[in-house]
Amino acid sequence: MNPDDLKVKILGIVGTPIKDGNCQYLLKEALDAAEGLGRVETELVHIKDYNIEYCIGCDKCLRRVHKLQKEVGFHVIPVPVKDYNCTIKDDMEIIHKKILGADGIILAAPVYIGTIPGQVKTFIDRCRTFVHDYRLNGKVAAPMTVAFFRNAGSDTALQAMTLSLLALGLTIVSIGAPSVSTREGLGVPIRETRFAVKEDLLGMTAARVVGSQVAQSALQMKAGRLALDASGTGKVG
Ligand SMILES: Cc1cc2nc3c(=O)[nH]c(=O)nc-3n(C[C@H](O)[C@H](O)[C@H](O)COP(=O)(O)O)c2cc1C
Repeated sequence: MNPDDLKVKILGIVGTPIKDGNCQYLLKEALDAAEGLGRVETELVHIKDYNIEYCIGCDKCLRRVHKLQKEVGFHVIPVPVKDYNCTIKDDMEIIHKKILGADGIILAAPVYIGTIPGQVKTFIDRCRTFVHDYRLNGKVAAPMTVAFFRNAGSDTALQAMTLSLLALGLTIVSIGAPSVSTREGLGVPIRETRFAVKEDLLGMTAARVVGSQVAQSALQMKAGRLALDASGTGKVG
């Protein structure tokens, strides 16, 4: 493959009930930085736009994966699961497709009572198939968060997202961007602007770094995979 043809897609996922809010603004900053590298296409999805039911714990995704593993061998990754592997037929089908089509994922969620909002946990739980089928192997990811206060749950939210993304089989390439949506992170609202997070120099800088890190790593991963494939040493994922 001609190296000039190398391109990656970065999917940004916003997990807050607020449309056009601070998380969306922060994530857009990261995606713009990613696009700035060139060779990078981005898409932003807002989970509020999708109907996502709770996981019902039926274990059927897991059982389908195990059945396939018995056929192809337990060492084979990714497990050759075809298409959408969840019994609940709702909008997660659309999001699974977008995740599978991306080379990198950035998940942005606000701090709610010291951690991530329930909607984001519901979204993550509905990705359970990926924990077992390794279809996200070789894709990269990073978390981002916005809070009122500088030290009131940002670390916990970032850690919760990091561990979940790792569990889904993604490679975490950044510690993530913590940011605040109040003046100096002291909890004092900034009324002059709709997106108070844009006044947070540290948070906005971290967002651009996250976007660049995810895009760079996705490009490196893809280039490495293509080089291995081309070398004839065998297909790796
Ligand atoms: C239910 C709820 C709980 C919150 N809990 C915290 C918290 O524990 N710590 C904090 O710093 N901010 C907390 N916040 C503030 C949000 O993190 C903050 O408003 C953030 O900017 C929301 O991002 P958004 O505009 O993208 O929705 C909470 C907000 C809500 C609505």
